[in-house]
Amino acid sequence: MIHPYPTLAPNEVAMSTSSPSLLIIFYFLVSSIYISNAIVPANETFRYVNEGDLRYGNDYMVYLSEYAPTYRPLPPFTFPFQLCFYNTTPNSYTLGLRMGTVRSETVMPWVWEANRGKPVRENATFSLGSDGNLILAEANGQIVWQTNTANKGVVSFAILSNGNMVLQDSTGKFVWQSFDSPTDTLLVGQALRVSGGPYKLVSRDSVTNNVDGVYSLVIEPKRLALYYKNNMRYWSSTFPEINRKNVTIIDATLVILETEYEENNFHSLRCDILNGQSWEFASIAMGQIRYNSSLSYLRLGIDGNLRLYTYRANVIRNAWSLLYTMFDKREDEGGMTFEDECHLPNRCGKFGLCEDSQCVGCPTPNGVFAWSKDCNTKSPGCKESGFKYYELKGVDHFTVKYTGGTGPVKRSDCESKCTKDCKCMGYFYHTDRSRCWIAYELKTLTRVGNSTSSAYIKTPLS
Ligand SMILES: *[C@@H]1O[C@H](CO)[C@@H](O)[C@H](O)[C@H]1NC(C)=O
Ligand SMILES: *[C@@H]1O[C@H](CO)[C@@H](O)[C@H](O)[C@H]1NC(C)=O
Ligand SMILES: *[C@@H]1O[C@H](CO)[C@@H](O)[C@H](O)[C@H]1NC(C)=O
Ligand SMILES: *[C@@H]1O[C@H](CO)[C@@H](O)[C@H](O)[C@H]1NC(C)=O
Repeated sequence: MIHPYPTLAPNEVAMSTSSPSLLIIFYFLVSSIYISNAIVPANETFRYVNEGDLRYGNDYMVYLSEYAPTYRPLPPFTFPFQLCFYNTTPNSYTLGLRMGTVRSETVMPWVWEANRGKPVRENATFSLGSDGNLILAEANGQIVWQTNTANKGVVSFAILSNGNMVLQDSTGKFVWQSFDSPTDTLLVGQALRVSGGPYKLVSRDSVTNNVDGVYSLVIEPKRLALYYKNNMRYWSSTFPEINRKNVTIIDATLVILETEYEENNFHSLRCDILNGQSWEFASIAMGQIRYNSSLSYLRLGIDGNLRLYTYRANVIRNAWSLLYTMFDKREDEGGMTFEDECHLPNRCGKFGLCEDSQCVGCPTPNGVFAWSKDCNTKSPGCKESGFKYYELKGVDHFTVKYTGGTGPVKRSDCESKCTKDCKCMGYFYHTDRSRCWIAYELKTLTRVGNSTSSAYIKTPLS
């Protein structure tokens, strides 16, 4: 540490009589050394306090934001992105980046968040200090979130026009970028990466509760996959290009491509999967549009569905249009694939039968009754003598389509595996390939109309 005063004090007395100008020069040298340690120029540092009037949307002064919060906009703004403190529960704030034009009557989505699950209170601060660390802290100074970029050469903070927030060094290199820490949303150009990360999106728990939900979109060396509770896969990409050529995936990026109809202003939006050993791309086509689609985002929803929204700049109300929904009632069309909604784990609640995207039944040991959202199983308990199984024919678990199960095994072995496992709620068995799936949660069962698939559900004897 440079601390000039103890050594300076005696000199000061001596110099002040003989040569006052020398003293000034000495001070200047000391302070210039100090400044060269403080890398971020003073006019680039900032400190915003979460205080003052709260805004909200209403019927005509509508600057509506997603989740209907109250919020405080902060000065950093690059059209159409703005940083805000927002809250759906009083005194429980998230620092988020909002996308959309203020003069429109369209709900503005949150496309990035700093502190999901770690809300801050009134008078919290968001600051870029002279050392280059970007910090979200409580009023008492307790750090809630930070970029860990102190003394790494940061000279400025910026929101780029694609929504990427960056801390740059003097050569323009990104020392930190928000694109590397997504929550549930990808913007155009933002990527998930197998090595180095970020490797997943995690859904939000609910509109009012901003903590991690149960769904994740994960990029893996061989596939892009959706999981319920980290280990129950309910969708994965089937890329023949990747599996045939024995290559691995490097990253998945949301991209816009100009198509051959460029002169008509066609753009197509794709989620591209760049694979390792060749320049070939595997991709999931998500739509083709006639307008400038650079403002688009891919969202892993609260319900575990994957949706792509694009922004139509010349539309006043409802400017966000839903372009693609992965689990949808639609048939496959134009190179786009859709999954039946029945494959969403929670489509029919804790325990329900689903067919053609509709909840059609509530299975019980005495037959299938009308569906309601309260359908559930009774706890079978752990004692083998205390439960039995009942069979549902032509039914699959939500994990069956995209996981291999185990096997070939005999059905009796599959059953005894479930019987010995207290947490097993039932098992699923395919007689044609002798495959077995153990289920720890039943959730939505899909009717497949195939007598080779059956579910065996544990139920208490009394
Ligand atoms: C926030 O800080 C201001 C100014 O110091 C103070 O008047 C106010 O009471 C604080 N608000 C809360 C909720 O602590
Ligand atoms: C696939 O690649 C892995 C690792 O490069 C290698 O060990 C394996 O033998 C390859 N398999 C085939 C079928 O080429
Ligand atoms: C699309 O919009 C973006 C952002 O507004 C702009 O930078 C880009 O040049 C536009 N592209 C075309 C082809 O108009
Ligand atoms: C039932 O499953 C078998 C094996 O997977 C398949 O060959 C058959 O086409 C299926 N039948 C129906 C009605 O889906």
